[in-house]
Amino acid sequence: MPKSREEHAQQWDLRHEDFNDNDFLYDVYDVMRAKSSFAYTDTPFLTPDAGGSWVAVSYSACTAILRDWEHFSSNPTPQGAEQLPGDIVITLDPPRQQKFRKVLNPYFSPGRMQQLQPEIRYETDRLIDGFIESGVGDLAEVAWRQPGIVFFKYLLGMPVDDVPLCIELTDTALNGATEEVRSVAWGGLYQHITEAVVAHCEGPPTDDMIDVLLGAEIDGQKLAFQDVVGNAMLLVQAGLETTANAMSFAFHYLAMHPDERDRLIREPDIMPYAIEEFIRFAGSIHGIPRTVTRDVEVDGQTFRPGESVQVNYASANRDATEFPQPERCMLDRRQNRHLGFGAGVHRCLGSNLARLEFRIGVEQVLARMPDFTLATDTDAKFHGNSVTRGYRTVPVTFTPGKRSG
Ligand code: HEM
Repeated sequence: MPKSREEHAQQWDLRHEDFNDNDFLYDVYDVMRAKSSFAYTDTPFLTPDAGGSWVAVSYSACTAILRDWEHFSSNPTPQGAEQLPGDIVITLDPPRQQKFRKVLNPYFSPGRMQQLQPEIRYETDRLIDGFIESGVGDLAEVAWRQPGIVFFKYLLGMPVDDVPLCIELTDTALNGATEEVRSVAWGGLYQHITEAVVAHCEGPPTDDMIDVLLGAEIDGQKLAFQDVVGNAMLLVQAGLETTANAMSFAFHYLAMHPDERDRLIREPDIMPYAIEEFIRFAGSIHGIPRTVTRDVEVDGQTFRPGESVQVNYASANRDATEFPQPERCMLDRRQNRHLGFGAGVHRCLGSNLARLEFRIGVEQVLARMPDFTLATDTDAKFHGNSVTRGYRTVPVTFTPGKRSG
């Protein structure tokens, strides 16, 4: 049943079908922010059994919470904790969280990422080769497949053939119609990753990320098997849908705005700004929870221990107090301290990888099909109602080109 902006702002439910309209969702955020830095929801997206939760929607509130892990813990509420397979970096607080980061950080360093450039370009080109000769194609093929192929093949150490299944299971786990469907999908993903970890334990040593986790020691102790599975599962979830959705939005936007597309070709120097702007504008996550540990006040709102707060990075990134004309996607926005990758101790571990995949994806599409526009005979399919949102198909037409050989 459709609701007004004000009704949604009063009781925000990200799964509501009205939010298949992305502009409408951001209008609702405007109403929420105009009232207060905090809204409320009875149906928090990632903590379904936790009961109601606060939702931080302003830039100042989200930043304050992300920087204050001592009052706003990443440990889930007791109900949420029961569903976790092990100690996972995103649900821990310092100092233990920082020790997990120490294990994983080197793997995502800017230097290591830069070395991956040729491979990422090669994989992107292969995907474009799939349709370059025909003059029609679906850019979601690039957006949705490239991050998975790169991550599984060159970093994680899982077979590329597993990517579609892992995307499908993650997607159903997040977006399935009922709690039961979602929970079966979580179980499926858990099982699948467990098997991959077991295969690593039995196989020859490698330097991929699963082996790094298996060999890692924290405080003189090897990680528990469940912790290895849990963190590998997090990496699969965190690394696939986020980048894919953000990139799919960029392709759709450029296919709809040929003048902007041409500008990016003409002025390649603005590409890094454009990537940040795409993430601020439409590639951000719509809520990750924190649990209040002690009485604390933020922007005039008092919080009590045990309460849950969803940090809404996407809403914060449209806050006019931080971003002039926040409703405009400005490809050369220079002052852009967006929260798309979070802030504070949990700032995104994969941001260097995401930026690189994203930039190379856009660069190769612009280089090889510079006149692409949205097809007129098929609609692009948008998927809303989720913590990450984007296009599942971006049908385009363009002047046919040659395969990369
Ligand atoms: C455009 C793409 C991406 C976006 C928008 C994004 C966003 C975020 C955000 C907002 C956080 C902070 C969560 C919090 O505050 O609790 C985060 C954390 C994290 N991200 Fe990303 N991410 C992206 C890509 C990736 C990729 C490609 C990977 C890895 C392959 C990754 C792995 C992680 C991990 C492991 C964490 C947890 C870090 C910690 O808890 O210390 N992300 N990400």
